[in-house]
Amino acid sequence: MIQRFTLGKPIKTDAVTRDLPSLDFDRLPVCHRVENGSVTLSFEMQPDDIVYGLGEAPRGINKRGWVYQSYCSDDPFHTETKQSLYAAHTFLLHSGETCTGMFLDFPARIRWDIGYTKADRTEITACGDSLDLYLITGDSPMAIVREFRSLIGQSYIPPFWAFGYQQSRWSYHNAAAVDAVIEGYDKAEIPLDCVYLDIDYMERYKDFTINGEAFPDFAGYVSRKKEQGIHLIPIIDAGVKKEDGYAVYEEGRDKGYFCKTADGADFEGGVWPGIVGFPDFLRQDVREWFGSRYKALTDMGIDGFWNDMNEPAIFYSEKGLQEALDKAAALKGENLDLGKFFGLKDVFMGLSNSQKDYSSIYHQIDGKLVNHQDVHNLYGACMTRAAGEYFEKTFGKEQILMFSRASYIGAHRSSGIWFGDNHSWWSHILLCLKMLPSANMCGFLYCGADLGGFNENATRDLVLRFLALGVFTPLMRNHSALGTRDQECYRFENPEDFRDIIQVRYRLIPYLYRVFREASEQNEMIFRPLSFDYPGDRLARECETQLMLGDECMIAPVYEQNAGGRTVYLPEDMTFVTLSGTKVKTQPLEKGLHYIEAALNEVPLFIKKGKTIPLCMPAMRTSQLRSDELEWIG
Ligand code: GLC
Repeated sequence: MIQRFTLGKPIKTDAVTRDLPSLDFDRLPVCHRVENGSVTLSFEMQPDDIVYGLGEAPRGINKRGWVYQSYCSDDPFHTETKQSLYAAHTFLLHSGETCTGMFLDFPARIRWDIGYTKADRTEITACGDSLDLYLITGDSPMAIVREFRSLIGQSYIPPFWAFGYQQSRWSYHNAAAVDAVIEGYDKAEIPLDCVYLDIDYMERYKDFTINGEAFPDFAGYVSRKKEQGIHLIPIIDAGVKKEDGYAVYEEGRDKGYFCKTADGADFEGGVWPGIVGFPDFLRQDVREWFGSRYKALTDMGIDGFWNDMNEPAIFYSEKGLQEALDKAAALKGENLDLGKFFGLKDVFMGLSNSQKDYSSIYHQIDGKLVNHQDVHNLYGACMTRAAGEYFEKTFGKEQILMFSRASYIGAHRSSGIWFGDNHSWWSHILLCLKMLPSANMCGFLYCGADLGGFNENATRDLVLRFLALGVFTPLMRNHSALGTRDQECYRFENPEDFRDIIQVRYRLIPYLYRVFREASEQNEMIFRPLSFDYPGDRLARECETQLMLGDECMIAPVYEQNAGGRTVYLPEDMTFVTLSGTKVKTQPLEKGLHYIEAALNEVPLFIKKGKTIPLCMPAMRTSQLRSDELEWIG
């Protein structure tokens, strides 16, 4: 059952697709108080209760024992002491004697203290005095997730080819660099469907432009790559470069489409191209305008995009930069002691994504000026919605690949997400694994992490182990940052090991695609915590390194360096399957703890007793996959 409680006059977020009658907030059967412009909810937890949710967020599947903030943040250091990542997925599921789901449809900052201050209490503080709260009750966590998902509408389904393997890097600077990647993969006989174009494909980082020197005859080039079965996926950033003569900027400025400051001027901030205007995506007319701009690229044959920097990321504002420069000038020639030196350093470090800047931005919603802080978490979601709505109107469903860095619940209907700028750290294999079920609960099905890790240098074994998890994530993309070690599979010694792993993905695509479609159409989760399926089993309840996949499988990636395998807990009898290229090894295992071995070129998988899954033959492109001759394993 879902009940909606409304406090004040909430901002319309379009997160839900069903208009439920509102109950008075005073009748909310959860302890709450409204004071000093914020709302606090609080409930008790028993020692064994589990708290799920928050989608893309740091730490565990069980969110207990930490404080989180829903505040879309451009922060590339995903350490366990962080409180926010790029998304704001404001759904929590408390599972104890009874199960309760809570969706706070509220786009400003929310603090979730889940047993951090008091071990047996969750205290949720929404920074504002108007919100919709949906309270969902049901017999089990999965029943609550289904109810919740039916409230927020069907999840985005990408084109079939988006289940192929994808290679990215910041940046393949020109056509020759892209060609070299495709050739590298083809020569090593490693399957590949997409190559990404990061910011350097543009003319000086201007959205919807092409650097003509790097990519002469872009449309012809895109079409030649399509003939090779390769989709090129360009990035689009939120900020529009301020430049006279640049049509997108001039139109945005002249029509008043950019976010404003309190005095009505365009808010300007610095991102990759220098000073930019930020389209006011919260306005329908601006969404229509920006969305239709993607046509510049779809007209040239592009059929996939990733939307970035849409928290929005702001490196600096001119005002903030001036203050910092003035401070530095004032200290010139001084003997800088601890206070002065670190004070100065903090001023410069605080320039990016500063609260002062966010607080000085205004949106126009229904003719009224609304401060950015009140709608911060909607910004990236609305950018992606702009694109998604244009694509659906123009091309129909399931035609265009689209995923975003920032998101809010509701955006799951028009796009997927990726988990942003992770690191080439072993711990980030598990961070990705833990976010998968949490994101699924909130409707985000098409998702994945930068495989191999984005920041810093990856080792060969890390990339292989990361890929062996990525075999199962709907978005299977290897991406790495400027200046890091080359991370394409064919760059490492013995590329055939990478072929073995990626071929497994292609063999599994018919199965994974079916699980994905069903999850979207029936409000299911692709990935579930073991505790969802085996609630009475203590080891399953506490398991944070394995996931259930569909109705048939369990996955348990190897996540430590120099490990030839790992310990796995089987909550029931299962077949342990090792997949490598076209090789399949099976071994029945009984319920319980087992040490299982998996070489670097092997993908471990567990199939429940009595279940089977299909494998097709691998191919170099998804378009060549044949689903008429399937091998069933189990
Ligand atoms: C951001 C993105 C990253 C991209 C980079 C350059 O850091 O998260 O994926 O490569 O910008 O565009």
